[in-house]
Amino acid sequence: MKVAVIGTGYVGLTTAVSLAVKGHEVLGIDVDAAKIEQLSNGRSPIYEPGLDQVLLETLGQGKIRFSTNLVEAKEAQVVFVCVGTPETEDGEADLRYLHAALQDIATLHNHSPKERTLVIKSTVPVGTGDQAAVSLRHCKELQVVSNPEFLREGCALEDALNPSRIIVGADSEEAIAVMQTLYSGLSAPWVITTRANAELIKYASNAFLAARISFMNELARLSAVLGTDVTVVSHGMGLDSRIGSQFLRAGVGFGGSCFPKDTIALLKLANQHGVTLSLLEKVREVNASQPVWFFNQLVSKIPDLAGKRIAVLGLAFKPDTDDIREAPALRILAELQAAGAVVTAYDPIAAKAVEALFPDVEYVTTPEAAFAGAHAAVLVTEWQACVKLDWKLIKEQMEQPLLFDGRNAWPHDELKKAGFEYLGVGKS
Ligand SMILES: NC(=O)c1ccc[n+]([C@@H]2O[C@H](COP(=O)([O-])OP(=O)(O)OC[C@H]3O[C@@H](n4cnc5c(N)ncnc54)[C@H](O)[C@@H]3O)[C@@H](O)[C@H]2O)c1
Repeated sequence: MKVAVIGTGYVGLTTAVSLAVKGHEVLGIDVDAAKIEQLSNGRSPIYEPGLDQVLLETLGQGKIRFSTNLVEAKEAQVVFVCVGTPETEDGEADLRYLHAALQDIATLHNHSPKERTLVIKSTVPVGTGDQAAVSLRHCKELQVVSNPEFLREGCALEDALNPSRIIVGADSEEAIAVMQTLYSGLSAPWVITTRANAELIKYASNAFLAARISFMNELARLSAVLGTDVTVVSHGMGLDSRIGSQFLRAGVGFGGSCFPKDTIALLKLANQHGVTLSLLEKVREVNASQPVWFFNQLVSKIPDLAGKRIAVLGLAFKPDTDDIREAPALRILAELQAAGAVVTAYDPIAAKAVEALFPDVEYVTTPEAAFAGAHAAVLVTEWQACVKLDWKLIKEQMEQPLLFDGRNAWPHDELKKAGFEYLGVGKS
């Protein structure tokens, strides 16, 4: 099929490339001309494992191309909307990019009318798809579908090619048939439902995953006091098939471009309808205080951080991505700097983006270099490069062998034997 994808960020680019892999003819559209130029030259503006190579392959096969001009999409049978829906100052989903894209599609459709399906993949509040259908009803032969995305940054391409489920909110047999043709060959369970249900499935999924993380983070605080080990507790819990092991790890809190904004957007949506989601309010409260709780563990060992060298390992909001939106590391760096610590940081990919926000931090190009002369080291993002380390060498390099493992990812038994003082999250 001929497909256009509006917005070539994490979701749009991955969607575009994976559809091209499946044999569709894809045009990626973005308002960011520099991004489009880079993409046209076969370079991905984002770091996502495997994406560069598949981008080059599909470009070479002529299956994908990029432009800033939606008019080039006049032959498209399907137009995806993958623009950002960030948080407004009030915490609601900011739909201005979505509305601009819908306006562009209306203009395109009026100039080049044909049977066309508009697929909203951006995460949008319940009712947005129905409102779009109403506002575009003058565009004859245009169907509006809600098809939320569930890919995880760090394995986005793999997720797009092997989705856990395909959620389609549509109100016509024709639109459903188009989606079935588009995604034929993907073996995933389908849920065909209303647009509103599809939109709520997305928010509810993210809110639920966020709740699991906050539950474990709060349990970790209890575990730290009791002298129990929350990693063993979560392992034991996760073996229960009713619970499962995913998103059950205590840490420094969730971040990224989705959970923080989607949980607040869901709360706002509920409030607008006179409903209080008190559990979700607590989920956010726990998450906001988790980096501070973790930082206070450090302060309990080093009460005066002024002038102390602290190594920070990992800055992206999670491993295998360059995304630093709402990354817990940003909060920890701010706390360290406010306390007067001298910070040396390492991240294999995201250091440059963080440097723009924290120019006073010293950024090093190897994890080992971050430890040199440090009074303590903090693991914030568990990149393999930050976990698999030469601990003998590191012990010799550190001023004081004090480790704070914000992801419970360092080999704590081995480290204790090697003479390090080790503190994890919820393990003594
Ligand atoms: N990032 C994720 O892991 C993820 C996962 C699932 C769902 N989502 C949702 O998908 C949506 C996109 O997220 P993202 O992380 O890919 O965002 P992003 O910020 O990485 O990308 C958005 C892109 O849209 C472009 N854009 C904005 N307005 C445009 C317009 N009018 N025309 C053309 N291009 C335009 C921007 O230049 C940018 O390149 C959001 O609603 C997000 O909540 C994200």
